[in-house]
Amino acid sequence: MAVGHMSACKESSESAARVMKHLQLLSFVTERAGEITRRYLTPQHQKANALVGNWMKKAGMKTHVDSAGNIIGVYDGMDRNAPAVLFGSHLDTVRNAGAYDGTLGVLSAIEAVHCLHEQHIRLTHPIWIIGFADEEGTRFGVTFLGSAAVAGHWNSAWFDVVDMDGVSMKEAMLSFGLDPDRIEDAAIPRSRVKDYYELHIEQGSVLDASHRALGVVSCINESRRFQLSISGETGHSGTTPMSCRRDAVFGAAEVISAFEKIASEYGDRLYCTVGSIHCAPNLANCIAGSMELRLDIRAGDQELLDILEKRLFEAAQNICRKRRLLFESTRYFFSPLVHCCADLMEKIRKSLEKIQGYSPVLQSGAAHDASEIASVWPMAMIFMRCAGGKSHCPEESVRQDDVRCGIEFLLDLLCSNY
Ligand code: GLV
Ligand code: MN
Ligand code: MN
Repeated sequence: MAVGHMSACKESSESAARVMKHLQLLSFVTERAGEITRRYLTPQHQKANALVGNWMKKAGMKTHVDSAGNIIGVYDGMDRNAPAVLFGSHLDTVRNAGAYDGTLGVLSAIEAVHCLHEQHIRLTHPIWIIGFADEEGTRFGVTFLGSAAVAGHWNSAWFDVVDMDGVSMKEAMLSFGLDPDRIEDAAIPRSRVKDYYELHIEQGSVLDASHRALGVVSCINESRRFQLSISGETGHSGTTPMSCRRDAVFGAAEVISAFEKIASEYGDRLYCTVGSIHCAPNLANCIAGSMELRLDIRAGDQELLDILEKRLFEAAQNICRKRRLLFESTRYFFSPLVHCCADLMEKIRKSLEKIQGYSPVLQSGAAHDASEIASVWPMAMIFMRCAGGKSHCPEESVRQDDVRCGIEFLLDLLCSNY
């Protein structure tokens, strides 16, 4: 149904204020007071689903939680047999997160539906919104759990992965009230969905630096993650001669420095991070016998990543050999370079031109549920500027006026195309 978006959203400033309020309310749903930490299958996940489900209902949607713990809202279309236009993003967070990563996309889409509902507008196609249960992998170290289940890519080996307290994913699902035997019910049949969109904060500084509110994403960069082990020998810190040590911490320090030096040669064309380190026995008076590191490398160029990966691991092997340490690596995560659907990008471009008069195109350096979804349905993403490009930290922020633009954009996209 073609309806002017402005008639669908009489009061977009009020809508933006409501989204900001809901984002704040969601930020209070946290495992630790004073920060935002909301992990998969925790009581806070349960509470976030309840809040979001309530807002979906107020927006005129029917809701349910699927067998992976995703909250899903459905706003019927005039043609009940028409495939849905699907909006999604995630409700979980990293530790000590910002308030907008993931949540912004879910709550903005709900608000767009709310506007339609208030104006008694039904489109031809149903609108579905999913708040994905886990994208960050903060609890179990496995990412995209919610979207993988929806895309039909669940891996049953994940049930046995344990969190830091030794609780398996299967046990956590049961405590949450989910039936692991029914996980496959979360997969949405391909024919039920027409197109997928995800609105997300940019998490980088391209839009902010160019004073643009919204942009269209061309692709999501490839991402590879590795578990690295460096093994030496533990011993007494006060008696073992320096020349005899096989110290895993000193070895890892040299390896990490070499990684930084190598990656820096490529300027801003790639990203290399060692964001997680654990040593054992982790005591001041013991030489560390082992180090476990997690390495994350990303780029929009697969060949460049192949070269980087080879160089990093050669350097690590050489350093460890000289120090009589054992170096081992296992790739535990891979998300390929994914291009957004050209037709959907064009739809986004047209709506952005109408709403803000320009439509910058940019790549995504961050990973998204959209990557997982792209193998099943046409997918596209819209980025909103965030101050200084800061994300995965409490300083994340967006402007209320950009949120207003985002809602107007979503309404135009919906009313012009679906
Ligand atoms: C998710 O936010 C990621 O880019 O790792
Ligand atoms: Mn994130
Ligand atoms: Mn995110």
